[in-house]
Formats: sequence, C-alpha cells, structure tokens
Amino acid sequence: MATTTITERTAKLTLNGSASTNEGEQKPEQPQPTYRYAHLLPHFSQDTYPPLTPYEHADPGHRALGHANPRAFLGNATRVVELTPNLGTEVRGVNLAQLNSDERDELALEVARRGLMVFRDQHEFIDAGPEAYLEWGRHFGRLHIHPTSGHPDGYPELHLVYKDASSTFNYELHDSLLPTVWHSDVSYELQPPGLTTFFLLAQPSTGGDTLFTSQVSLLRTFSPQFRAFLKTLSAVHSGVEQANFSRSGKRGGVVRREPVEHVHPVIRRHPVTGEEALYVNRQFTRRIVGLKKEESETILKLLFDHIDRSGANQARIKWEPGTIVMWDNRVTAHSAILDYGESKETRHGVRITPQAERPVPALEGLELTNDTA
Ligand SMILES: [Fe+2]
Repeated sequence: MATTTITERTAKLTLNGSASTNEGEQKPEQPQPTYRYAHLLPHFSQDTYPPLTPYEHADPGHRALGHANPRAFLGNATRVVELTPNLGTEVRGVNLAQLNSDERDELALEVARRGLMVFRDQHEFIDAGPEAYLEWGRHFGRLHIHPTSGHPDGYPELHLVYKDASSTFNYELHDSLLPTVWHSDVSYELQPPGLTTFFLLAQPSTGGDTLFTSQVSLLRTFSPQFRAFLKTLSAVHSGVEQANFSRSGKRGGVVRREPVEHVHPVIRRHPVTGEEALYVNRQFTRRIVGLKKEESETILKLLFDHIDRSGANQARIKWEPGTIVMWDNRVTAHSAILDYGESKETRHGVRITPQAERPVPALEGLELTNDTA
C-alpha cells in the first residue's frame, strides 16, 4: 500500500514540542527522546473506500432511561461543575477507563443532556492505546471512518488532528479574519456522529482551546414564530469543499471516499432526550431546500451569525494533560482556536467518532428529499 507519512524528525518530538534556537546559532545534535505517542502520528494511506452504507443505530442513552439512577456513574466523582447554565459539565474523580457497560450508557445519556462533558485526569484511558479506543467507541455506535484525515497506521477509525512547528494536518483557513469555523462533525453524512470522544496526546503550553456551543439553547433564543418556520425547512450539507481542500494538497492530500451531500432537517429532535436543536453549520451547510437563492442565503447567514456571536450559549475548554472531552454532535457545534502557531509547539489529538441515527426532523412528517441538486 502506498503511503505518505510525516517526517522522521516529527516522530521524535518531545511531548510539548521542541525548544527554539537563536538565529544563526549552531547547536550540537542532541538525541531526542522518542515521542511517546509516535505510533499514533498521522498516516495518509492512498486506500480508497466505498460509500458508507446505512446502519441501524441503537442509542445507548435509551438504555439508561430505565436505570434507577441514570447518573450513578458519577457516584465516585470528587467534583462536578456545570461550565455554563446551557452547556457543559466538568468532572473529576471518575475514571472513564473503568466504566462498565451500564455506566457507559448513563454517560451517553448525561452527555446528551449536557451537550458536553469534560473529564480530567484520564491518563489510564489515554495510555490504553488504539485497540481500547475502538472498543470504547463501538459501545456508542458504528465508528465513522473519515474520508480525508490522517489516522494512526492500521487504525482508520481514529481521526487525528495534528500540527507542529513545520506542518499541519488540520482544516485551517488563513485567508479569513475569522479562522473560527463552527461545525458539527461530518454533518454531510447520511448518519452523522452522535456521542464523540476527543483528547490530546500533546498540547501547546497555552492556547489551542476548543469552543463549543449548544445548538439547543441557541434555538430557544428565536421567537416561537421563527422556530415554527425553521422546523418546516431542510438543508443540504456537503462534503465537497472538505474533499477539495485535501485534493489541493493540504491536510495530507488524500481523498479516500468520494464526497457526499445529504439533506437534513434544519431543526432535529434528539432521539433520547426529545430536545430540539438547530442543525446547520457554516462549514458544511450550503443551502435550504426549496427556497430562492436570496432567501436561503439570508436565513443561513442569520443562523450562522447567531452561532458565531452567541457567547451565552458557548463554553470554552482549556486542555490539561489527561483531559477527555465528550460531546453529543447532534446538539452541539464546535470550533478549534488557532492561536498557538507562533509557539511552534505540537498539538496532537485523537477523535473517536461513532455514527448515530439519520437526523430526525423536529416537525413530524417533514419530507427529506434526497435531491441535493
Ligand atoms: Fe470538529
């Protein structure tokens, strides 16, 4: 199999990047300690994948609804703090690596309810390695294989983000005043992800935080009349630009599965909590089905601008070594923050991305055409 790999030099990075040198100064070659997570560095095989096929998703959160105490998995927590009223809970004292099947179901329900959960001190989980990551993710759904991103050699189900002093394999736009790109992961798929797990293996000493927003509380801020109108709409989500970004030579330069477009409801209903969430995002949503071009552009601009500006619905995660963040991709959006490039430090993250159901329209009976033309 033909492959593109990052350089040997990169594979010898220290955990928090390399020290800078003064210009012109010659330093003797120092032996670098081998990067602890070198086996999880991005690998860009030239393999091609067939289109995804539909699958029946059974949400683990459903099972927890029948538990006597659906929050029992938090029983050993030493600290549980709501990050904001609308979104996010931070937990200390719960070891995700030790959760049993029932507790994982409860976790799925709690993430669905809070949108976002942050678990600190998860070194056992992170050091358990790729086979354990897959076993974990499969509890929550069929693992999505990303069409363009880098993955550890032999583990295409693990989506990696990676940036160091000389290279980046992230989706980064540098020709805009606002490199913040709000999105719900791979929303162009017929069955986009649900309960998603993400953690960093290496991180800059400061910066590289992640922004999240609640698409549930964002939606509530609109008038009842406008919400009722939005419920009647569906929109096209497209993976074409993301594929073209890779085809232009960026982010590893491979497209292993042909890009797809799918139509989803503008307001979706969570199958477990019943909550309604805005389901459009600036990165992948292209147009509203059936509206005139100007109507579609105006409404999408209003929705995207509201997502961008609405601090009251946002939470910002500052990473610490050992942090694991979980979010429900059906009811939240997020964006990286690209503020650490000058430090030349390394940021290396792993995402475990189980797919969920095809988005359920909040308006019962809303017809979702497959005509994306
Ligand atoms: Fe993302």
